Amino acid sequence: MKVSCKVEKVEKSNCDVLIVNLFEGVKTPSGATASVNSATDNLIKEVIKEEEFKGSTGSTLLIRTKGLIPAKKVIVVGLGEKKKFDLWALRKAYAAAIRKAKASGAKTVSTILHGAGEGDIDTREAAQTIAEISQLALYDFDKYKSKDKKSPKKEVTTVTIIESSKSKKKAIDEGIKRGSAFAKAQRLARDLVTEPAEAATPTMLANTARKIARENKLRIKVLDKAQCKKLGMNAFLAVGRGSDEPPKFIEIKYTPKGKAKKHIAIVGKGVTFDSGGYSLKPSKAMDTMKMDMSGSAAVIATMSAIKDIRPDVAVTMIVAACENMVNGHAYKLGDVFKAMNGKTIEIMNTDAEGRVTLADSLSYAAKQKPDAIIDLATLTGACVVALGDYSTGVMTNNQKLANKVIEAGNEIGERMWQLPLLDEDRAKIKSPIADMINTGSRGGAGAQNGAVLLENFVSDIPWVHLDIAGPAWIDSPNAYGPKGPTGVGARTLLNFLDKYASKI
Ligand code: BES
Ligand code: ZN
Ligand code: ZN
Repeated sequence: MKVSCKVEKVEKSNCDVLIVNLFEGVKTPSGATASVNSATDNLIKEVIKEEEFKGSTGSTLLIRTKGLIPAKKVIVVGLGEKKKFDLWALRKAYAAAIRKAKASGAKTVSTILHGAGEGDIDTREAAQTIAEISQLALYDFDKYKSKDKKSPKKEVTTVTIIESSKSKKKAIDEGIKRGSAFAKAQRLARDLVTEPAEAATPTMLANTARKIARENKLRIKVLDKAQCKKLGMNAFLAVGRGSDEPPKFIEIKYTPKGKAKKHIAIVGKGVTFDSGGYSLKPSKAMDTMKMDMSGSAAVIATMSAIKDIRPDVAVTMIVAACENMVNGHAYKLGDVFKAMNGKTIEIMNTDAEGRVTLADSLSYAAKQKPDAIIDLATLTGACVVALGDYSTGVMTNNQKLANKVIEAGNEIGERMWQLPLLDEDRAKIKSPIADMINTGSRGGAGAQNGAVLLENFVSDIPWVHLDIAGPAWIDSPNAYGPKGPTGVGARTLLNFLDKYASKI
């Protein structure tokens, strides 16, 4: 799909569907909606009245224009109450409108820049949102479905933002460029997570990373088992031991043109399937576990769009990819492994494997002494219980950095909520025979148990841990897409790297 901006009068736009809007409770349309209304001899106003259209957020009205204007159909979308209008209302409303346009069979869609200038939404931000939602709300993963030749697929191919004033074109173009890059990244993350574990193996993630590095001229290193062993990554290798799929340790580097203002490491959990290992998951808890590489999908996807954003900081991406399975070689409860930084972990539950792989990923990141480390991981079911499907759990050793990451996420619609790391939680992972156990003892806090273990591997580097177990997979559709894998995290990282990272 191509999203672009055109300066013209909205009523002159030639397209299959033209999307205009109405705030709740408004009887006489204003602005662009009014122009379309007068060009169609009051058709819009009449239908609004006839259908008793109220304009609640995301309600839609499809009107045939009968040749009165070049647009074949008009969709009026409700924006809700004017005084409550914000980016979330825009996302919800525009997602409903573009889905309605697709369902009506439209190929070419024109839309006005809904709500720009309302509340505290600026033009660039509104354009970015429309570009993102256009490419994410209609996401559909159908590569494993047999093709229905009789009814060809309905596909929106172009979205044009129609703007009457030439002076806004530059800001809109910038917003579209940013939104398209962000959406491209999130779609890739979603593709990778949606692929069955049979296809999205550690080797496939490494090959995807190689392709991205080649296409974007980024430096890449892929380490195999023997190379990881040499570096002392016994924790990571322990988790992958029970699988026939060889583990892969992946590193990609981006450096800006001028002098890098900072160096940020982004680390993703890459367990391509989590059976739980010998602490086997029940079937119902295992059926979505192909998603346990969502963190790695987010960081790989971030690198795929980094040259579109060109942040002024250096970025190192790290993924330790493996599969958590059972066989005669699999790691066992009671085993002790020494991670790359020399610290030892006693395994009390083979299903708490993410933190064991991350122990080595974070040690490897910390060794490079970046200015900050951000890890993304589908780490704990406890975080889903605490925060639900729509918020990422944030844990940190540096409040200033966490505040920036939280802001970067919230700004682009990936909501964040912080959980505390307490000495009482730290005390819960003491081991009688090693430096720590990989699960908390009785009375511990589930999500934080994971984080206080990770903390041991980042040295004194400012670090933020994002537990994305909830938002990586949603059970009902939202403005950003269908139910299932979401590809969460990539847009937060891109926004952070672009706008916040140089100022940490
Ligand atoms: N991959 C899971 C966490 C998870 C659960 C992600 C649900 C997405 C949805 C992780 O490896 C795990 O199994 N964690 C255990 C930790 C426990 C054994 C301490 C959990 O959450 O039950
Ligand atoms: Zn697990
Ligand atoms: Zn896991």
